Amino acid sequence: MLKPSKLSKKNFLSSLDMTTDEFLHLLRLANHFKNKDLNIKYKDKVLGLIFDKSSTRTRVSFQVAMTRLGGTTIDLNPITSQIGRGEPIKDTARVLSRYCDVLAIRTFDHSDLEEYAKWSTKPVINALTDLEHPCQALADFMTIKEEFIDFNNIVLTFIGDGNNVANSLILCGALLGIEVRIACPKGYEPSSLVINKAYEIYKNKNLLKVTNDINDAVSGANVLYTDVWSSMGEEHKKEKKDKDFKDFTINRHLVKEADENAIILHCLPAYRSKEITDEMMESKKSRIFEQAENRMHAQQALLSCILS
Ligand code: CP
Ligand code: NVA
Repeated sequence: MLKPSKLSKKNFLSSLDMTTDEFLHLLRLANHFKNKDLNIKYKDKVLGLIFDKSSTRTRVSFQVAMTRLGGTTIDLNPITSQIGRGEPIKDTARVLSRYCDVLAIRTFDHSDLEEYAKWSTKPVINALTDLEHPCQALADFMTIKEEFIDFNNIVLTFIGDGNNVANSLILCGALLGIEVRIACPKGYEPSSLVINKAYEIYKNKNLLKVTNDINDAVSGANVLYTDVWSSMGEEHKKEKKDKDFKDFTINRHLVKEADENAIILHCLPAYRSKEITDEMMESKKSRIFEQAENRMHAQQALLSCILS
């Protein structure tokens, strides 16, 4: 019988904090949790949530996943805790890790997440930083696997800003050895640090492509994926980004360029008529709400391994 097994790394800060085997194991576990084939309980275990940015899916899916595992969550609002009044991360981390068994943190600078992880004696999970969104990527690849059964010959095209969501997709694509194409306007390419890490893993370096040519990136793709043009914390850049990204919308014309069985993904929240049209959001090709549901199953799998 499939059982959760401890990940080799204490923390899950990056998609690269798992090996390819661990990634595939998490996807299998997630599928078992979804099908109710696994009933694992971690009574009395507590997940602490610290969210410096807004969240619907990540927060609630972590809460429900932990409840389904028999544990509980504490949602620490930075405004009403001392975190918002400037208590140093190293003090907060040392105190909270004496109360909680695992922490999930959403914040801006990835270095702040690393600071929590450094001082916490308990595992820390990245619930999104400006650099990565590895929990999202778990659910994304779970959704892709549900659709296509395996990852052979899959082409994943991400259309949008080369930041957190794109970065985790790139790193997971490298772990799985699948073709990942990133289409973004000039100046919005993923960080070279992430690209270089991915190239170190890819056996076939041609499988990762970053381009400003959206049609070229979409041609024959099996998965079209997009994200908001202006991320949380970029509200002041919205006007400029709306202009810079105006040709990067998933619409019916673009979808016609993809493989005829292509599916559409979006991490949500979505801004209709910006990065995706309402028609494509609601189309038969959309797996966006399955993907959102899978956040919960994937995180249940992740927590079950971390707590095992
Ligand atoms: N996709 C995602 O992380 O959604 P939330 O911001 O609602 O958590
Ligand atoms: N790139 C987006 C993802 C939201 C889940 C953001 O950081 O706001």
